[in-house]
Amino acid sequence: MIDKKLIVANWKMNPQSSEGAKKIITEIKNKFKNFGDVRLVVCPPFVFLNEVSKVIVSSKNIFLGAQDVFIGEGASHTGEVGIKLLKAAKVKYVLVGHSERRATLDSDEIVKGKMLESLKEGLKVILCVGEKERNEHGNHYHEVKKQISDAVTKLPRKLIKNLVIAYEPVWAIGRPESEALKPDELHEMAIFIKRLVSDILGPREVEKIKILYGGSVTKNNFKEIIEKGNVDGLLIGRESLKPENLLELMRGLER
Ligand code: PGA
Repeated sequence: MIDKKLIVANWKMNPQSSEGAKKIITEIKNKFKNFGDVRLVVCPPFVFLNEVSKVIVSSKNIFLGAQDVFIGEGASHTGEVGIKLLKAAKVKYVLVGHSERRATLDSDEIVKGKMLESLKEGLKVILCVGEKERNEHGNHYHEVKKQISDAVTKLPRKLIKNLVIAYEPVWAIGRPESEALKPDELHEMAIFIKRLVSDILGPREVEKIKILYGGSVTKNNFKEIIEKGNVDGLLIGRESLKPENLLELMRGLER
């Protein structure tokens, strides 16, 4: 059974200095020590991976994540960061297919490649999926179904335990907290995703995969989202840069 809640902090292109990154992660680490029921993955910009890694090195419940990964043969790819480099930086998790990356370069095929290669190399993958908009025809189910099916169909059994699926409706990202997805709608989507994954990979395998929600989560709305929404954790952008708020939220997840 999946018990520990997983919180993923996606810092995007923040903060603006290594001192700022160190300050945020130090404050979180110092006060997070005793949380037994929650795991935190922090995904800073590449340039601050090392800074964050140094602070969390002895932590048992904070892990380093990357916001993306490049896959391709050899090392002649100017400006890219591949799996070997991420592992050298002590990265354990990688976000794949975040909507802000799908919006520019990442097709479903590229996302699948990034997911597979990263899993094969021993990284844990947070596969991000989510519809661009919702309408009364229920197109969001088709969109999410396609993203998940394209990625996980024929996924080798031994890699499944290192996969996390983050459902992030694109229209709910970066909005005021009142515009996050409603918990009952999340509940329906979480059931849909679990059924879909169960149909593709089998009912025993789906138990190994954590399902997260992301999109305008704050310290004020997280509880209802996670409890009524029936998910195993949260992917948090802006609120994860405010240590006090993030800590309050994680404290609220302790049993
Ligand atoms: P947000 O970002 O929490 O600021 O909406 C979430 C995300 O994009 O992962």
